Amino acid sequence: MTTPYPPAPERPASGQKPYFERHIFFCLNARASGEECCASHDAQAGFDRCKQQVKAAGFSGPGQVRVNKSGCLDRCAAGPVAVVYPEGVWYSYVDLQDIDEIVESHLKNGQVVQRLLVAADVGR
Ligand code: FES
Repeated sequence: MTTPYPPAPERPASGQKPYFERHIFFCLNARASGEECCASHDAQAGFDRCKQQVKAAGFSGPGQVRVNKSGCLDRCAAGPVAVVYPEGVWYSYVDLQDIDEIVESHLKNGQVVQRLLVAADVGR
């Protein structure tokens, strides 16, 4: 797919170090209508586990990793989802062991967890 805009640079052009080395956003969106959403797949538990594991491992905060909540990320069909920046890597997780693997492999060591990747064509 082509985009009408150039890809974002991974680092600020100024050469300034990013405030956080990595940022992971967890969709916690809930829909009262009963439609599928990440909240209906216990996304809160995934978020809580990730935050707790990153803190316990000692790499939470400026210059390291930030774990954030998000509203709908528009990839609901793969839910529950989380995305890691600056790489822009999308994950779909099933259980807390998946979260532990994302923390240890990607957030701590920069290695993408291939088995949990969201397929490129999965959207809402
Ligand atoms: S509800 Fe989670 S990506 Fe849309």
